[in-house]
Amino acid sequence: MVRKIVFSDTGNATDADALPHNLGAEEPVPKETKGKFKKSNQRDYKAVAQNLKQQRQDLPIFSARNAIIREVRKHNSLIIVGETGSGKTTQIPQYLLESGFTIYGQTAIAITQPRRVAATSIAKRVSEEVGTPLGARVGYTIRFEDCSSDKTQLKFCTDGLLLREILSDPLLRRYSVVILDEAHERTLRTDILLGMLKGIQKERARIAQLNRDSAAQNGQSFDGWHAHKGGEKLHRDHRSSGSHVVFGESPDPEQKESTVFTVIDDAHGDVTGIQDLKVIVMSATLDAERFSEYFGGAPILYVAGRQFPVTTYYTTTPQSDYLDAAHLTALQIHTETPSNSGDVLVFLSGQEDIENVERLLRESTASFPPEVPHLLPCPIFAALPQSQQSRVFDPAPEFSRKIILATNIAETSLTIPGIRHVIDSGVHKVRGFDPRVGESLLVEPISQSSARQRAGRAGREAPGYCYRLYTEADFAQLPEDSVPEIKRCQLSMVVLQLKAAGVHDIMAFDFMDRPSKKALKHALLELYALEALDDKGELTKLGRWMSEFPLEPSYSKVVYASQKAHCTREAIDIVSLLSVDSLFFIPADKREESNAAQMTFRSADGDHLTYLNLLRAYVKVNGDKEWCQEHFVNRRNMRHVLDVRQQLTRLCTRLGMDTERSCNTDLDTVLKCFLSGFFHNCALLQPDGSYRSLNGSQAVHIHPGSSIFGKKIPAIFYDQLVFTNKLHARAVSAADPLWIAQAAPKLYGRLLSSTVNYPTN
Ligand code: CDP
Ligand code: MG
Repeated sequence: MVRKIVFSDTGNATDADALPHNLGAEEPVPKETKGKFKKSNQRDYKAVAQNLKQQRQDLPIFSARNAIIREVRKHNSLIIVGETGSGKTTQIPQYLLESGFTIYGQTAIAITQPRRVAATSIAKRVSEEVGTPLGARVGYTIRFEDCSSDKTQLKFCTDGLLLREILSDPLLRRYSVVILDEAHERTLRTDILLGMLKGIQKERARIAQLNRDSAAQNGQSFDGWHAHKGGEKLHRDHRSSGSHVVFGESPDPEQKESTVFTVIDDAHGDVTGIQDLKVIVMSATLDAERFSEYFGGAPILYVAGRQFPVTTYYTTTPQSDYLDAAHLTALQIHTETPSNSGDVLVFLSGQEDIENVERLLRESTASFPPEVPHLLPCPIFAALPQSQQSRVFDPAPEFSRKIILATNIAETSLTIPGIRHVIDSGVHKVRGFDPRVGESLLVEPISQSSARQRAGRAGREAPGYCYRLYTEADFAQLPEDSVPEIKRCQLSMVVLQLKAAGVHDIMAFDFMDRPSKKALKHALLELYALEALDDKGELTKLGRWMSEFPLEPSYSKVVYASQKAHCTREAIDIVSLLSVDSLFFIPADKREESNAAQMTFRSADGDHLTYLNLLRAYVKVNGDKEWCQEHFVNRRNMRHVLDVRQQLTRLCTRLGMDTERSCNTDLDTVLKCFLSGFFHNCALLQPDGSYRSLNGSQAVHIHPGSSIFGKKIPAIFYDQLVFTNKLHARAVSAADPLWIAQAAPKLYGRLLSSTVNYPTN
């Protein structure tokens, strides 16, 4: 029997509400963009740009170009709202570039994105439109990867990266404009950036005024000012206003009293030439008033989009397995509609979901008769290599249809041409935080606003269809909007960065949405326990080092501790291994074979060392494809691991660490080292055989995929908690309670007395 998902038709619901607009195109002129894209490796950049010119001019935002430029000139803060796909991200930075908002070799425009994949793929597209190689005039910088130069004028980066840049450049001198894109997503880092940028903007405005005053003074009467004599710098003190002006910086020694001058500011030193910072906040949803209020009543520009009607279907009954439902719905669409009726976009929660559906689809389509067109699964997620990421934008070959498997990255960050059918699983993965258990990853229902955005992706080029894998009654139960991340996740990393950026009183920081006092206190305590803060709440030397290291504080602490423990090689290796979702793949019908293959690498001490064994074996066979298949090793993710490993090794070497320092076979050392960062992720075995978290007495279950699943070990530590039907610890290893006590004596010193009860190994 053919299994089918039954959908109810809600009629001609046009779910993607049209935005009001005060700017932009009146007439929707749909253009078929499919098939017009050139390959990026083409040398002839100018020709590519020329080819894309018409496409650029066909975008809804094009008719608002002059109005946007005019408004940016007029105001230092601006909010721009426009429907997804209207051209905000790719076009606005170019308009500013074309209108002289950056000076080649001197200033740049930063455009932040919540996700690395968006930053890299949009930079690639914009560099093609500008007609220069990627990394030159247009580039990107994401964690562990810098594809930009000091000549880069449009720099796409993650919000986290710009936050990091503030540590080394507190006034963001390099930037004339910062564009905070996708602000409606309210990621933790975007929220922190909002606050930081507001402060920087104020400070730059003060300095810009100082520069203007000095320029006005200069060339006027020098009364009251000391002339510059004999190479000696004399200056008039303006200390009351925190600044002074130094004359005589002219490169021409004969012209010392000429118009060249340097403006010195007590807080920032030489501030000559610093101008106002323009901040543009871009959002794809309507509720922009809050951003406007936050920036002192900044004007809001609405840019018209184009939206065709989207017919929405709901399942008639709730689906217990949304992966299977997504797979079956995709097959239904493919077999019941002509393949030239548009590509399919499926929204799933994460990489694991995507790879599972990809596998299900490959298996089902393998038995298609030859007259059925091909169905090409195209996954897109962060750990996917660049070359494969760009495949989603290439048109589907003849006699085939693309099915794009994405996370909520395709909701508003990326617009993929050619989509006419959307399948919405109704879930996404979010970070959740509970002080009793720490941070965990949760697969949660999306908001109604997200569901509308997802549906809207089907109606960009022509009328489309959205298949919701949940009932209409379930939709009505969804929250209207998602909760900003700052209200529900762990804050230790951003608190550390704020401290490093000189924000001492975290409680008084100008948050757009204030996190709970409890969460802030928890972050401060954790940083204190990690020895990043001292007992006065001030940054320690170690804390400063950790703030500059591009990892969550727990990991940077591990890397730091590994020097003394002589196991930096292993620490970097394991940290890199933990940077991906899954190292093995477990096909539903080959679960046992997959588990048996994983046993080859198994360490009795747990997953951290199991992963290390896997890496060592993988390197030995040079990542051989067949070997990976035989051992059910996720080769795609292993390549990503090697990438991160190389970047981390390079960074540590630059910081003067000996990255080849290895503990060889004394692997307890590595585990102890991990505890110095992960003592808050520990659980103790209870008399009834269950585990309870050490910091909150919550029931914690070892993940069934773990190499120590089912074992009774007195104490464990884990990398992460994932909530499905219960709290599962992932990447779990055995810990000696004594090690925990040693790693955090102030918190867990009491374990020292109880160790007698536990067998130590
Ligand atoms: O930011 P917003 O959602 O307003 O739109 P955008 O990302 O600037 O996208 C504008 C147009 O560029 C869309 O029609 C995309 O399909 C197209 N685009 C593309 O074809 N390839 C890319 N790699 C990025 C964008
Ligand atoms: Mg965008």
